[in-house]
Amino acid sequence: MDELSPRFWEIFFEVYESLPRQGPGNRTCAAKALGLCRELPESPAILDLGCGVGGQTLQLAEMTSGTIVAVDSHPPSIERLRAAIAERGLSERITTTVGDMANLDDALRSFDLIWSEGALYSIGLRSALHVCHGLLRPGGYLAFTDAVWRKENPPPEVRAGFDLDYPAMGWLEDDLSAIHDSGFEVVGHFTLPDEAWWDDFYTPMEARIAELRGRYAGDVEALGILDQLAEEPEMHRRYSDFYAYEFFVARR
Ligand SMILES: C[S@@+](CC[C@H](N)C(=O)[O-])C[C@H]1O[C@@H](n2cnc3c(N)ncnc32)[C@H](O)[C@@H]1O
Repeated sequence: MDELSPRFWEIFFEVYESLPRQGPGNRTCAAKALGLCRELPESPAILDLGCGVGGQTLQLAEMTSGTIVAVDSHPPSIERLRAAIAERGLSERITTTVGDMANLDDALRSFDLIWSEGALYSIGLRSALHVCHGLLRPGGYLAFTDAVWRKENPPPEVRAGFDLDYPAMGWLEDDLSAIHDSGFEVVGHFTLPDEAWWDDFYTPMEARIAELRGRYAGDVEALGILDQLAEEPEMHRRYSDFYAYEFFVARR
């Protein structure tokens, strides 16, 4: 892999922070996963780990009457979520924290539901499952998504893409074993459909990249980084049969 340009992360965030979501997922899938949590209390205490700018946090606030603590380690994403919460008058129900999910405040305990879309892998799935087990009350639910392989021998560019972001990525059975080994019962799981990659993620990403190409016209370094970022949706267009995002719902 070539060295990343010193401006890579600045431009990466200029693209990603503007998106409704920072990973695959949509409201329909969130509703389906929530529907699998059949014995939640009427107003559940929810923890959203790696919430990003809060696409799913705000949807959870609409789909439940519970309270939500939303945590992310990237302060600008939390800033955006705070603005959206204020705009929607949701500050009584959603609180936000900048923090590392591996090292959360001891006061955060006994949740009815932990939600995490595309983020648990950041600290290693098994470590994250251990953390979640400790933060849930007995009988509490964990709903999360994770990328998994679904076909052997991916093309080198697909392998390189995941080696960079998620080298430990496994297969569906690996995740199911990890969930089971961590003291959870698997309630259900399903694969995200293709529109869940596009509607709130790759389609707005490609639009944002096009917009920034205009803004950075003549800036060769920035344009090169935008080309690099554009490779991910293009790879998905060509090779999405090699990998998937799976939604898992488990119960402590
Ligand atoms: C792929 S994004 C998903 C964001 C959001 N859940 C969504 O689906 O739109 C992963 C998020 O996890 C956050 N993250 C990564 N490592 C983290 C950690 N150790 N603790 C808390 N958040 C973390 C990142 O900042 C990023 O916002």
